[in-house]
Parts: sequence; C-alpha cells; structure tokens
Amino acid sequence: MKVIKSIPALKSAVRRWKSKNKTIGFVPTMGYLHEGHLSLVRASKKKADVTVVSIFVNPTQFGPKEDFKTYPRDFERDAGLLEKEGIAVLFYPDAEEMYPGGYKTYVEVHDLQDKLCGRSRPGHFRGVSTVVLKLFNIVRPDYAFFGQKDAQQAIILRRMARDLDLDVRVEVMPIVREADGLAMSSRNTYLGPDERKAGLSLSRSLRQAKMRIDAGERRLAVILSAMKEMIAAEPLARIDYIEAVDMDTLEPVKEISEGTLIALAVFIGKTRLIDNMIV
Ligand code: PAF
Repeated sequence: MKVIKSIPALKSAVRRWKSKNKTIGFVPTMGYLHEGHLSLVRASKKKADVTVVSIFVNPTQFGPKEDFKTYPRDFERDAGLLEKEGIAVLFYPDAEEMYPGGYKTYVEVHDLQDKLCGRSRPGHFRGVSTVVLKLFNIVRPDYAFFGQKDAQQAIILRRMARDLDLDVRVEVMPIVREADGLAMSSRNTYLGPDERKAGLSLSRSLRQAKMRIDAGERRLAVILSAMKEMIAAEPLARIDYIEAVDMDTLEPVKEISEGTLIALAVFIGKTRLIDNMIV
C-alpha cells in the first residue's frame, strides 16, 4: 500500500489509473478505523478496480467547542488495517495541504445542512461538504462510500453530487453494530463503562420503535414518545433530538410510512452519539 500525502502526487496516480480505464472507489475517513469503515472498504473493493482511502481529521467540520484536538488518532494501526484489506493507496494529507494559507472557498447544501445534527452543530455540514468536494476533485472517484450511521451526511453529499453534476456515485452502506447493538463509531472510545451501557439506549429505542411499527403502529407521537421515554430513563443520557423525517428533504413527517428516516442524537455524558433507521 502506498501512503500519499501530497495532492499533486495523488492526482498523478489518478491520471495513470484513468488512462488505463480503471474505475476508482473512494472511502473518505477521519481515521481511527473500525469495522464500519472496513465494510465500506470491502464494498469499494468489490465494486471498483482501485480503492483509495483517505484519512484526514478535517478541522472545518468541528465547532470551536468540539473535539477536534482530542479526536482519536492512530495512524500506524489504521495503516496496518488497510494494508491487510489490500488497499492500493492511502491518502494522508495534513491540514496545510488541504487548506493552505489564504483558503477561502466553502460549499453549502442549504436547508439540509441546518436540520437534525445541523441545529446543534452549526457549520458542521459546510465543513463536511467542502472537504468531501475537495477530496472528490482530487481522487475523481467513480464510486464513493459512506455509512448509513451518518444518514444526514450521506443525504447531503448525495444532494451535493447531484446539484453540482459530479461524476461520482454516492453509495451508502448499512450501519455496522457492536454485538450488543451500539452503532460503531470512532467516538465510542470516549465512553466509560457506565456510559457505554447507557449508550445502548439509542439502538434499544430504535429496536422498540421497529417492533411497534412492524405491529402496525403508525402514529408518530406514540412511537417517538416511547423512544424518548426509554432514553430519558437513562440518567447519563440527554436527548439532543429524536425525529422522524422525509429521506429527501429531512422535513419532519406527520405519519410514519415506508422510507421514513427515524434519527436521533443523544449526549451520553459529554459524548454525542447518533443512530437511525429507515422504516
Ligand atoms: O464521516 C466522516 O468520517 C467525515 O465526515 C468525512 C466524510 C470523512 C469528511 O471529513
């Protein structure tokens, strides 16, 4: 596996692959890889001739009071995992490479970026859209892979690709969970043992909602209030939001139907966890 840190070096590798008509799969990450990331890598390897993975903890998607400085990082471990997966190229730029002095250009996906997580993380999706568009321009992938756990991110990036006529197919892969149901996330490492247990309330509340829906319940208020009750019973949990929204517009729905996205964000102590399901 080749580790490339400079944009021109990666662009010239991309030119070589394109000249040989090779398809490119791309998995952008912020590192501290887990099985969720590796499922994206495997999906890309199945679909494309060459797979590029990027590791870049993107400063522009963190708010001033968020965890940019403490975000978990372990390059050696990540590189070892990717090597084992047989990845061609790992792109590992630093912040100066991605945002050189005088950097001024940002991408915004209006409306969608302000809903759900966007309300408590202003500027977050502007940072995500900006870095992902830059990465797409550098890697020029045919396919890019994202996880359903970050459902709003995937919806925003799909919209960006459509609105800006990008030649990339945004593929969204299922949430990967720990054996006990906790959605995998690099931030799970912040959780102490009691917080880890309290964090299970997110997936538990979604499972319970699914059971009610499967049994024919369609009243939104009944489903959402049962979820809220279950999470509020955890002393370490503080609900940021629990919402049922339309998958395209992220507008709240009046009634649950097929394709409704039920998404939630909950603080467990200081750690903000997210989870979701599509009905
Ligand atoms: O999902 C992530 O890890 C990040 O938001 C992404 C897509 C790599 C952009 O920094």
